[in-house]
Amino acid sequence: MTTSRLPGFYNLPLDERLERLAEAAGLPPSELAPFLALGLSAEQADHMVENAVGTHNLPLGIGLNFVVNGQEVLVPMAIEEPSVVAGASFMAKLVRTGGGFNAETTAPEMIGQIQVLDLADLSLGRQAILEKKADLLAEVDEIDPVLKKLGGGARDLEVHTFDETPIGPFLVVHIIYDVRDAMGANAVNTACERLAPHLEALTGGRVHLRILSNLADRRLASTRCTIPTQQLSFGEFSGEQVRDGIIEAWAFAAADPYRAATHNKGIMNGVDAVVIATGNDWRAIEAGAHAYAARSGRYTSLSTWGRDADGNLSGSLEMPMAVGTVGGATRVHPTAKAALKMMGVQSAAELAGIIVSVGLAQNLAALRALATEGIQRGHMSLHARQVAIAAGAAGEEIEKLAAQLVAEKTVRIDRAEAILKSWRQST
Ligand code: MEV
Repeated sequence: MTTSRLPGFYNLPLDERLERLAEAAGLPPSELAPFLALGLSAEQADHMVENAVGTHNLPLGIGLNFVVNGQEVLVPMAIEEPSVVAGASFMAKLVRTGGGFNAETTAPEMIGQIQVLDLADLSLGRQAILEKKADLLAEVDEIDPVLKKLGGGARDLEVHTFDETPIGPFLVVHIIYDVRDAMGANAVNTACERLAPHLEALTGGRVHLRILSNLADRRLASTRCTIPTQQLSFGEFSGEQVRDGIIEAWAFAAADPYRAATHNKGIMNGVDAVVIATGNDWRAIEAGAHAYAARSGRYTSLSTWGRDADGNLSGSLEMPMAVGTVGGATRVHPTAKAALKMMGVQSAAELAGIIVSVGLAQNLAALRALATEGIQRGHMSLHARQVAIAAGAAGEEIEKLAAQLVAEKTVRIDRAEAILKSWRQST
């Protein structure tokens, strides 16, 4: 990739945008053609889900200006909400003045859970399993020789005891499985099912559930960024005011779960958009994110904002990131395939680092707006376009009608329909 800075990109017609994008990504435009076509055909959809009748499309925008670990990256974002792509791109532009995002990931270790019931003595059952830990791990390692060759495989086995539950005591075995570049659900679920009869034989108990955990807290992605204070100033707001306003806004989310839910939703606006665009399982990412946000027993902010030693704004975000670059829809969905190619990512870890950076950029965009002029000003013109379309505007009418709704400060469907009707009657 040459650069993720594409000035004037938003002013180009759609087909020229694609050419510019391909040029920046160092790809022939044909590689990105699925973006303009309807990426997934009904026939392909029919092989993916049951009772398929067609597809459901989302807008795909490009997050610009991102630099992650010194690499320029163009970010595909599939999302229906206005302002998200623009907000992330603008914040990435500010962040690059401070050196870009620094992302890290832990090993891609997923957790599979196996519930063992009907045990007379939990500690005896636990002991019996732990004594055979090496054999059980070896059994899991046999399942997928390709994964093993790539450096993945079973890493550890833990036994958790639950003494008091609504159905009495039981054991839960955790199998820790390094799934490399896969999301890993299939590998982990297969491993759980393979271990089940062995666990029954070892303990004399009855295995019930065998399924991965979406609280993927051993597969974390984190990112950090610093924004020079002067870069934050705009309009009547000084850089210091914006910086301190952002930190105050973050403190609200750190202290209050009602605010933290919305704050984290803003992070997920960025995260989910990339997760969806790359064909990954966004429900898994959502489940992991919110469970991780509540890991202390109190739901709180996933991100942190503060001042560094030089007084600049610094932010960080850490969350589970179970995404893959192989398997699932990543290599089946034509748009997802093109999106991964455009990003030029070589591994799931690299993708995870980019996703979490987009989440932090999106969080910054929301906090900057909320802490200064409020969120509605930026939202209104884009929202007005959607209202105009919903009212039936087409072609050039859309921008004209949106501009009038904003000028009248009445961005409502009934007003949009009335204006449109009056225009059409007068022609
Ligand atoms: C809207 O989709 C997201 C925000 O509510 C996030 C936030 O409040 O931080 C703007």
